[in-house]
Amino acid sequence: MSVIVFGGSGFIGSRFIKRLYDIGVETIINIDKLSYASDQSNLDFIENKKNYFFYKEDINNKDKIRDIIEKHNPKYFINFAAETHVDNSIESSYEFIKTNVLGVQVLLDLFKDYYSKSNKVIHHKFIQVSTDEVYGDLTITDNPFSEENKYSPNNPYSASKAAGDHLVFSYINTYKLPLVITNCSNNYGPNQHREKLIPKTVYSALHNLRIPIYGDGTNIRDWIYVDDHCDALIRVMNSKCNNTHFNIGGDCELENINLVKQICNILSDKLNNKADFKTLISFVPDRPGHDYRYAINSSFIKETLDWKPEKEFKKGLSETVNFYLKKFQTE
Ligand SMILES: NC(=O)c1ccc[n+]([C@@H]2O[C@H](COP(=O)([O-])OP(=O)(O)OC[C@H]3O[C@@H](n4cnc5c(N)ncnc54)[C@H](O)[C@@H]3O)[C@@H](O)[C@H]2O)c1
Repeated sequence: MSVIVFGGSGFIGSRFIKRLYDIGVETIINIDKLSYASDQSNLDFIENKKNYFFYKEDINNKDKIRDIIEKHNPKYFINFAAETHVDNSIESSYEFIKTNVLGVQVLLDLFKDYYSKSNKVIHHKFIQVSTDEVYGDLTITDNPFSEENKYSPNNPYSASKAAGDHLVFSYINTYKLPLVITNCSNNYGPNQHREKLIPKTVYSALHNLRIPIYGDGTNIRDWIYVDDHCDALIRVMNSKCNNTHFNIGGDCELENINLVKQICNILSDKLNNKADFKTLISFVPDRPGHDYRYAINSSFIKETLDWKPEKEFKKGLSETVNFYLKKFQTE
């Protein structure tokens, strides 16, 4: 079995490749343009390079990507490649449209051609990895997002992901291709870029810098351990389910301020330090168009694929803080 992973050198993609590696997938192909958000050392665990192929390539380079696909004949296609930082999308959405919309269109067209030439005996599948942010904003009393919710994105990042997803839905409807979208909540775990909330908080605390929190810190996100997300993706990949989308969440809603305070307390414990890192917390003007709350109802994937998030949040957060502590102490 061979799997082609787009964006496999980033945070989630690299953990997903680790998972493929651990379950003994025969051939893993990683295509990544190595943007600022990637880190090839995320993939240092790979010992047997015989079964692993890396190509530094932009997903928009259609001819190059077609050559790679034809060379390896993958069974499954999984797309993680994206611009992912909301703040950057507010600065400029250009790169977000290029990768998250036009890049998805390139991959879908390549998959369409590839699938039309296949003998259909092999059950190919294309999974588009997406976000809960496409659904927009919830109030405190709203029900969590289910797959029935209409997309209603509120920032350029979520709008670009929603546009990519709409293309996927349209290719399902128009060309009857075996495509699946997954909409996951906030991932946490090792190897995330320092611009994101958890690593940024650890880095700031360690370097005695202020820990910035948008607005009054009461915005709510659902958190899932990255390996639980990857486990859900493996189940989607191996299932017979196509032409649908799955919500994936961690059943762990937290206010940002609560999360940051937990990280500060873990750091004080781990450093055996009387310092109260919470004094570094600094409220900064709110992000424009900041969604108040995301929450995910994952009952569809739980019932259909017998999946559930396994990692206990306190344990996962403690391990994650430990990872960044070690990483940033040596930087
Ligand atoms: N991180 C989260 O909490 C989260 C939650 C839900 C969904 N997602 C989705 O999961 C996917 C992966 O997210 P992540 O947090 O690992 O992101 P990331 O920013 O850590 O990694 C993205 C990877 O994609 C690569 N890439 C970017 N543009 C590319 C292009 N044009 N061609 C080839 N490679 C390109 C980058 O080099 C990088 O290695 C994204 O699609 C994101 O929207 C992320």
